[in-house]
Amino acid sequence: MATANLNIPRHIAIIMDGNGRWASERGLSRSAGHRAGAESVRRVVEACNEFGVQYLTLYAFSTENWRRPAAEIRTLMSLLGRFLKERTADLQRQGIRLQVIGEVERLPVLVRRTLDQVMAATAANTRGVLTLALSYGSRAELVRAAQRLAARVQRGELTPEQITEEALGRELYTAGMPDPDLIIRTANERRLSNFLLWQGSYAEFWVTPVCWPDFGREQFVEALADYTCRVRRYGGVTDAGS
Ligand code: FPP
Repeated sequence: MATANLNIPRHIAIIMDGNGRWASERGLSRSAGHRAGAESVRRVVEACNEFGVQYLTLYAFSTENWRRPAAEIRTLMSLLGRFLKERTADLQRQGIRLQVIGEVERLPVLVRRTLDQVMAATAANTRGVLTLALSYGSRAELVRAAQRLAARVQRGELTPEQITEEALGRELYTAGMPDPDLIIRTANERRLSNFLLWQGSYAEFWVTPVCWPDFGREQFVEALADYTCRVRRYGGVTDAGS
């Protein structure tokens, strides 16, 4: 497909929602919904590769998700581990580097080990970056950044005046990444839910009633088409003054 003239977002971030609803509508277990959701992850990674979206960030497990029943957390963690093992070859074939943002130290040791292996195996890939937000919460990330800056001031490495937007950005998990251009949320929810609050300040937002397990190339193209029509002013005005 020719995409040369399209304004393709460099970074898409997705709040994957509705696995549970998708499952209950079909009389299936929540685990079945998450399993189907993992399949959507595979499809969307492929679509990003096809359309030249360089950065894809997925909200796979929030700090709030630790409040879910232990059995569901176990299912999600084991699905994640399996996904990583089964998809390493795909990531390599597509030239995608894996990275993680969030409180990784809270994840089960086996998952951490698998993540480390896949991150090391894909570290030299340059075509795209798949970032999994795991045990991630934007407010906690901002608090951590503030603490790190305060510690640097205390050590005399930085003056308070040197705490700029750039300096704070360098202390976030996403340091070195471009901000998301487009944030997608599925299952008809219209909240950011503590996801990339700082980084998404100017992101375009696209929501769909489709639950995450039904999200595929078709919905991805719809979101891209909508994004290409938007005029991003970043608080300013366009040449036409619109
Ligand atoms: C939201 O559905 C989804 C999640 C909490 C987790 C997302 C997880 C996956 C897509 C599966 C595995 C992930 C990877 C990266 C392979 P929900 O359970 O909140 O749905 P509901 O609101 O309908 O209950």
